Amino acid sequence: MIRLDYVNISNKITSDAGLDIEQKFSEYAPKIQEIITKLNMNKDKPGSFLQWMNLGYNEETVWYVKEFAAMVDGRFDNVLVLGIGGSIFGAKALANALLKPYWNLLSKEQRDNFPKIFFLDNIDPDEIKGLLDVLDLKKTLVNVITKSGSTIETMSQFMVIKDRLYQELGDDYRKNIVATTDKQTGILRQLANEEGYKTFVVPDDVQGRFSVFSAVGLVPLALVGLDIDEIIKGIKIMDLSLKNTDIKLNIAAQNALIHYLLDIEKHKYISVIMPYSSRLKYLGDWYAQLWAESLGKELDREGNKINNGPTPIKALGATDQHSQIQLYNEGKNDKVITFIRVKEFENSVEIPNIFEYTGLNYLGGKTINKLINAEADATAASLTNNNRPNLTITLPKINEYYLAQLFYMFEVEVAILGELYNIDAFNQPGVEQTQNYTYGLMGRLGYEESARELLEKSTAFEEN
Ligand code: PA5
Repeated sequence: MIRLDYVNISNKITSDAGLDIEQKFSEYAPKIQEIITKLNMNKDKPGSFLQWMNLGYNEETVWYVKEFAAMVDGRFDNVLVLGIGGSIFGAKALANALLKPYWNLLSKEQRDNFPKIFFLDNIDPDEIKGLLDVLDLKKTLVNVITKSGSTIETMSQFMVIKDRLYQELGDDYRKNIVATTDKQTGILRQLANEEGYKTFVVPDDVQGRFSVFSAVGLVPLALVGLDIDEIIKGIKIMDLSLKNTDIKLNIAAQNALIHYLLDIEKHKYISVIMPYSSRLKYLGDWYAQLWAESLGKELDREGNKINNGPTPIKALGATDQHSQIQLYNEGKNDKVITFIRVKEFENSVEIPNIFEYTGLNYLGGKTINKLINAEADATAASLTNNNRPNLTITLPKINEYYLAQLFYMFEVEVAILGELYNIDAFNQPGVEQTQNYTYGLMGRLGYEESARELLEKSTAFEEN
């Protein structure tokens, strides 16, 4: 199992910045027990948005995903994933972590005949044009993912790509599309029905940021040969462990409570996630979105204005030691830093003993593996010396099984945090105003009022 180490929250950190963990665990044990019981009791209740807690048990979806991956095996050189936010971050982070590094630059043989994979998660015209220039769309399977079926960024990407596919393939274009969307509603569902695309369903009561283990994440991952059975195994074992209502045995509850108390009692309202592994680079995007959209809320459940919001920040070790660590060690003491360490890397790279008579001779014969973990230890120690609370999560290895544990643990942690803060972690009203203004600016029917309101506020928009 993955491990959470919180010794640098209590020992060696003074009481103005750290916590007496054992005392807090005892004090909050009944509350945590109540929260975990409630989450598990409500998970099947419609409208509770907790269906993601069942995704480890969705054998039917797993079967269909694997069947589809086997059916298209060998037919495509590329997979192109279209989406934004929760619909794409999870698969992007997992693919980057689990595929061999520089996957798209490897030969077909090196990729065991699996396709290259591209994630388009923005609407930058240069990026889109650049991608179209390098992709042979005839040999590309496009997986468009949107739960609502109408998200402006995803659907505009899709309109561009679909049109190109049609130009290149004529009526056969639909064989190159697989849509992941709501089972009944939304424009993409309607299009899929009318035009005959293969589809997968985003289950009800699963928000995008909690959807990585539904078809949303599993389809792209299976298409490039990743082992989704191992992913499911990882979720299940973690789910079992996180059903434990005893905080002493539940790492999601421990992690949630530590972050919550450091925020409300010690003003550590910034949560930094810092993996020491380039393969985990995009984990930070997924984590930041999970935290920001779930926990950044104006109102609590009773409607009181609280403007809740622990702020997530992503960093990468060792790279950001030469960027952000200066601030973390000496700047405002307002952060909790979570390191993610990998115990055993897939490869070992030895530093050759080539500059024997220089000041570099101490490195010769050591491994890069030892170096990166030494840097993680050194950073944790210096932060601790500077009285900065920090935690470490250790992955035995980077593989499907342990990453599924990690992602699922973070999801449960955020759900528990939502309860501790007494907010709804599963809505995102703060995103909607921007969307409505955009619709107004782009002339969508029904959004004239938003456009008028916006234009009244600033004449600068008229230029658009
Ligand atoms: O977490 C969420 O719910 C959001 O980030 C959505 O995933 C994002 O807005 C995309 O929505 P949709 O899947 O409807 O296109």
